[in-house]
Amino acid sequence: MTDKKVLVIYGSWLGSTREIAEAIAESMRAEGAQVDVLSGRAVKSVNDYDGVVIGSSVRASMLHGGMKRPVRRFSKQLAEKPVAAFVGCAVIYDKNEPDAAGKAQAYITRFMDKFPQIKLLDIKPFAGAFLVDNAHGFMKTMVQNVAAQTTAEGDPRDWDAIAAWAKDIYRQF
Ligand SMILES: Cc1cc2nc3c(=O)[nH]c(=O)nc-3n(C[C@H](O)[C@H](O)[C@H](O)COP(=O)(O)O)c2cc1C
Repeated sequence: MTDKKVLVIYGSWLGSTREIAEAIAESMRAEGAQVDVLSGRAVKSVNDYDGVVIGSSVRASMLHGGMKRPVRRFSKQLAEKPVAAFVGCAVIYDKNEPDAAGKAQAYITRFMDKFPQIKLLDIKPFAGAFLVDNAHGFMKTMVQNVAAQTTAEGDPRDWDAIAAWAKDIYRQF
């Protein structure tokens, strides 16, 4: 159970999903795991790891390259390992969306369907936050506008749910 090596690969525009990735790592470390948290080109290899978590936020239904690039690059090696996915997004707390969880999971499956050899243990949707202060200029206005259209009050990230999911996944690695 303990001392397994885990890689958390994340894609994040404004940092909210990077913080989720770090919370997953913290929770797994508390279980005895050795965890690296990396994005994009910083992922040089996945060979040393017993399990891999991949996760991204979403913009206009698209995942971030920080997750997509390493999955493309190491798809063959990932097919040989236990892999779990999460998505940090806004649709998950949209009260007008009857299948919020399904829609959130579909962001992942639409991309991962290109890699049927990678079997995902789980696809977990988490509520993501709009870290408006990390955006600048025109982008800040755009993020503020998108945030204003959602029903989230403040930061809706559920740190307990994130930690519990991480522990559960680590048990399966
Ligand atoms: C321009 C923009 C577009 C977005 N599009 C979507 C979307 O299509 N679906 C969704 O569920 N969330 C969407 N979101 C919400 C983000 O995925 C969410 O806030 C996420 O937590 C941001 O994570 P990050 O800080 O790691 O980039 C969008 C956010 C922005 C700013």
